[in-house]
Amino acid sequence: MNSVEDHYATLLAPIYVWMCGGIEVALSQGEREIQQAGLDPDGAGRLAIDLGSGFGRHAIPLARRGYRVIAVDSSSHLLDRLKDAAHDLPIEPVQSDLMTFLSGFEGRTDLILCMGDTLTHLQSLRHVDQLIEDASATLNEDGALVLSFRDYTHPEESVDRFISVRCDPQRSMTCFLEYSSDHVTVYDIIHESGLESSPRVSSYRKLRLAPDAIEQRLIDVGFIVRMSRDKTGMTMVVALKVPGRQTRRRRDTKQNPRQTNSLSIEKQTIDLDRPLFAVLRERLFTM
Ligand SMILES: C[S@@+](CC[C@H](N)C(=O)[O-])C[C@H]1O[C@@H](n2cnc3c(N)ncnc32)[C@H](O)[C@@H]1O
Repeated sequence: MNSVEDHYATLLAPIYVWMCGGIEVALSQGEREIQQAGLDPDGAGRLAIDLGSGFGRHAIPLARRGYRVIAVDSSSHLLDRLKDAAHDLPIEPVQSDLMTFLSGFEGRTDLILCMGDTLTHLQSLRHVDQLIEDASATLNEDGALVLSFRDYTHPEESVDRFISVRCDPQRSMTCFLEYSSDHVTVYDIIHESGLESSPRVSSYRKLRLAPDAIEQRLIDVGFIVRMSRDKTGMTMVVALKVPGRQTRRRRDTKQNPRQTNSLSIEKQTIDLDRPLFAVLRERLFTM
């Protein structure tokens, strides 16, 4: 089994855009997902951080709406594809581990994304907790965190563990899933016509994250949460910070990284008229 970084470097990154149906199809999907999240269509003057941005499926549609975007990914190959597609859009690509980047980020931001099943790539549930805490500490008072990830809590069985991802005359990709208690090992199998080295196989681990558990963790840290699930089994979580309501304080990175200080919850009236994420707020409170 490979580390996530090695899996992308050796197998997945060079075919990732192809796997998603090509850049235009993928960017249209990203645009639809940004709309589905209910984010303010006008991002002018706002900063977004896209954790595990890949080739920019969501970073590019956000930048087209006027957001300034920091796109963080460990794959240099995928960040190069992002640079090819972003042209003059205000996107800053950063090659880094996303956990390290977020915990070391000194400023504040309006929006943090971790979409397209990137969350399941983290090493453990403790890392997911840490990301949620660091996101809460990094967001402005009325900021939002958007997560989307696949729900692997109900194991597929028998032949359903083989998933045909994409197939054309030149190449085919199939995944095989092997379930353990807290994670699933994903084997990516690539056949390429005319290649002696075909098939190529590489595997890596993904976390089996329960959407309800993620929702509860976000609530514990002081977010209000809306969850939805699409027909492909992808869960989207939109979490809004509630001004003045925070259960954890940003840890001092010079201290023991596991140490957190508690603050009591102070309830405040939510001002529904604030412009940031007005569309989302409207939907949240009319559900
Ligand atoms: C499933 S892809 C999703 C990409 C993008 N968000 C999308 O929806 O198209 C996961 C991405 O996260 C990146 N990644 C995974 N673990 C990472 C980590 N710890 N730090 C930085 N990037 C990571 C991978 O290189 C890959 O680009």
